[in-house]
Amino acid sequence: MNTKIAVIGCGNLGLSLVEGFIQAKMGSNVITTRRNTETIEYLADKGVKVTSDNAYAIKNSKIILLALKPYRILSVIDELKEHFTEEHIIVSLATGVSLEVLKNHVEKNIQVFRAMPNVAASVGQSATCISKNGANKEALKELERVFQRIGETILINEELMESAVVLGACGTAFALRFIRAMSQAGVQIGFSSKTATQIANQTVKGAAEILLATGNHPEAEIDKVATPKGITITGLNEMEHQGFSAALIRGMLTAYKKIEDSK
Ligand SMILES: NC(=O)c1ccc[n+]([C@@H]2O[C@H](COP(=O)([O-])OP(=O)(O)OC[C@H]3O[C@@H](n4cnc5c(N)ncnc54)[C@H](OP(=O)(O)O)[C@@H]3O)[C@@H](O)[C@H]2O)c1
Repeated sequence: MNTKIAVIGCGNLGLSLVEGFIQAKMGSNVITTRRNTETIEYLADKGVKVTSDNAYAIKNSKIILLALKPYRILSVIDELKEHFTEEHIIVSLATGVSLEVLKNHVEKNIQVFRAMPNVAASVGQSATCISKNGANKEALKELERVFQRIGETILINEELMESAVVLGACGTAFALRFIRAMSQAGVQIGFSSKTATQIANQTVKGAAEILLATGNHPEAEIDKVATPKGITITGLNEMEHQGFSAALIRGMLTAYKKIEDSK
């Protein structure tokens, strides 16, 4: 793939994307920026062009991924819009900034998308939601191809973009907290922290792989493991008595409300 990609704002998410592109052998297709480039200069050794010059990045790329904080993205678009052309595909990764607002700031007749990847892009495993409404089919295909190099893509209506933040982006942290709790219990029942984490990581990965491979509902797979009167169901029911699913769902709904309240 030869598409040139600019990652504007190489912070937490931006760097994960760049690392994913490097892993996908696309490092030399990527130009990335931040104002203070000191901490990302090492990316140049992997073929990535590192610069603080956003205009240069835009002029030399086709797909522009704006990995900037929501409060900053519109002012950066305002600064840079003179460099946008109809050849560009502009993609905002910012939470809570609507397509309509983005398009008003871009002003020109250019393909603008919202996308919500997650930090697992760094290991080629992002779940990237891409807004599909009103998109030019060719541009959408090209964007999908790019994100497919760093994980799975899911096309959604823009109205679900904030839900995608909670499920797909915050979801990484929720899953990590689950793994941490599992490891801590593992330590209490005898494993070293390192071994407990190793077992928990692989077990969670294996469980997800089963669902991805079979397409089955989680409960169908749980039924296979939970022997009547057995150990697994005893543990599961105690977790539910303590509010496990309720706590997770409440946490996600509260996170969603926080985004909606900040609009
Ligand atoms: N973290 C996630 O998992 C995740 C997932 C999905 C979406 N998002 C969204 O991604 C966006 C970025 O989040 P983040 O956690 O990666 O934030 P972050 O770590 O603060 O990264 C933003 C980067 O932008 C750079 N920057 C600021 N102004 C700039 C400018 N004028 N030109 C070029 N670079 C500039 C900053 O570096 P300098 O100060 O050096 O310029 C910083 O490294 C947010 O809108 C968030 O909603 C995050």
